[in-house]
Amino acid sequence: MDVGRVPRNPLGTLLAGAAMARRRGASGCPHEAGGKHGFRADQASRRPRARQQQPEGTDGDGRAGAKRFTLHAPLVRGTTSGMQILLLSGPDLIQNNPGLAIGLVVLVAVSLQTALALVGSVRRLAHQRRQLSRERERLAYLVRAAKSHWHNAELEKASWNGWRKFRVHKKVAECEDVCSLYLQPHDGKPIPGFQPGQYLTFGLDIPGRDRQLVRCYSLSESDIKREYYRVTIKKERAPRDKPGIPPGAASTYFNDTVREGDILNAKAPSGHFYMDTSKDAPVVLMGAGVGITPILAMANQIADSGSKREAWFFFVCRNGQEFMLRQDVERLRKVENIRIFVCFTKPAPGETKGRDYDRDGRLSIALLKEVLPSSTYDFFMCGSGPFMKDMYDGLIEWGVPDGRIHFEAFGPASVKRVATAKIGSPAAEAAPAGGKVAFAKSHVDAVWDGTAANLYELAKANGVRIDYGCGAGSCGSCVVAVKSGEVTYKDPPRFAVEAGSCLACVGCPKGDVVLDA
Ligand SMILES: Cc1cc2nc3c(=O)[nH]c(=O)nc-3n(C[C@H](O)[C@H](O)[C@H](O)COP(=O)(O)OP(=O)(O)OC[C@H]3O[C@@H](n4cnc5c(N)ncnc54)[C@H](O)[C@@H]3O)c2cc1C
Ligand code: FES
Repeated sequence: MDVGRVPRNPLGTLLAGAAMARRRGASGCPHEAGGKHGFRADQASRRPRARQQQPEGTDGDGRAGAKRFTLHAPLVRGTTSGMQILLLSGPDLIQNNPGLAIGLVVLVAVSLQTALALVGSVRRLAHQRRQLSRERERLAYLVRAAKSHWHNAELEKASWNGWRKFRVHKKVAECEDVCSLYLQPHDGKPIPGFQPGQYLTFGLDIPGRDRQLVRCYSLSESDIKREYYRVTIKKERAPRDKPGIPPGAASTYFNDTVREGDILNAKAPSGHFYMDTSKDAPVVLMGAGVGITPILAMANQIADSGSKREAWFFFVCRNGQEFMLRQDVERLRKVENIRIFVCFTKPAPGETKGRDYDRDGRLSIALLKEVLPSSTYDFFMCGSGPFMKDMYDGLIEWGVPDGRIHFEAFGPASVKRVATAKIGSPAAEAAPAGGKVAFAKSHVDAVWDGTAANLYELAKANGVRIDYGCGAGSCGSCVVAVKSGEVTYKDPPRFAVEAGSCLACVGCPKGDVVLDA
């Protein structure tokens, strides 16, 4: 600007005054233009201009949130420049044009107030936005909790006590020795939902057997499809070292004898091993062999409900011939928030990694460490005893808290939790070591030394066979008469056992005991 010309408008006059003052300042004024301590108008105008070149909503470092600055910055800048000018050219201006000086003071004051008001509004807006986002989160949580309550109320309403008849609507051969049964209620009434991971208990009256067989099978679908329940059952072969022994009674019956249209007796879904659908913490789901069933229900639940919950799904089997429920797993690959890893331990000739499966070998902690970003997940697993023991021990070693590891054993538990393995465990408290347990029918005497978690495990370890269903004190399969002594429980079992009998799967001896087994 040509500082020698006096423009007509007030601002021009003002700037001209400032220029004059600067010229005068050259002869000894402490605010000398360009001097050591002097304010340089070009500095004031250059800095914000540099900011204006930055992308919208970012500050000099490219951080978001600078919008606040850009909004009120011109006002603050203008006010500051006005004050600078007023200070520099004040005495001359008051002398030459007092009206303009007063107007300028008012202008500066109004600008200041406006700037402050604007800053306040921007802060208030930001605060309101934060509050709104917190409120949204709170509401989302409340909706989830309400849904969960509603879900539980629905469960209660449509649930039933005792046996209910189900018709086998569809039977599908999944792979060698494995079938899925799609069950619809015979009474045509609605069926309750369930938590993914829970199971149905079946009561089977198999011809030629003197008593009803009770067995549990996990629901392998999500509970979104409420027209039917699906269970997937693997035929249990006789142990390799005992070929003379018959194969599993119930699983063989389901696979070989049960046909579409048959009627089966089932109890309502139950079980404590499930994924809480009211939460959205990321999960790692691991299944080995037929242990895929409850794990798949969890992954299906995430997919079918449209949840955005992060999930990692791992499945291990020998090869494609044992890859049950493959279609479900392939469908899950298309779900954005679920990552799938299928491991084959012995791929069949012609099976190719990358096409038929993802990884060679076992599902191991090493694989988890390789692919998971961290260990901060809730881990759910189901499979053979050795598989779960390896994974559990590895997870604990990796620093995963015991409370974040959840597992289901289809037979007696083989995993000893670190929390309960310590001295003072509930079993040890219920029944101090040293008591004698006699299995009268089998003529076997055993000692309760604290290594078995319950009487069923002690019987099994000593070669005594007791029937087994849920392993959780709710089906009554393992009822054994107590001839003498007392049996105690950590928690009261759900199955109402008669006086004089006990549930071996959850019972512990209180002193010396004689069982009719
Ligand atoms: C909560 C839960 C969920 C489950 N979910 C599923 C599921 O989704 N899918 C699934 O397939 N299974 C599941 N199971 C396992 C299932 O309940 C049965 O335990 C399984 O099918 C075997 O039952 P079975 O009657 O066929 O075998 P059993 O008759 O109980 O026999 C078991 C084994 O003992 C052997 N045996 C038989 N007689 C003798 C004898 N005299 N001496 C020694 N050994 C003998 C058999 O050869 C067989 O290997 C689940 C179990 C639980 C507890
Ligand atoms: S096995 Fe079901 S109550 Fe014991």
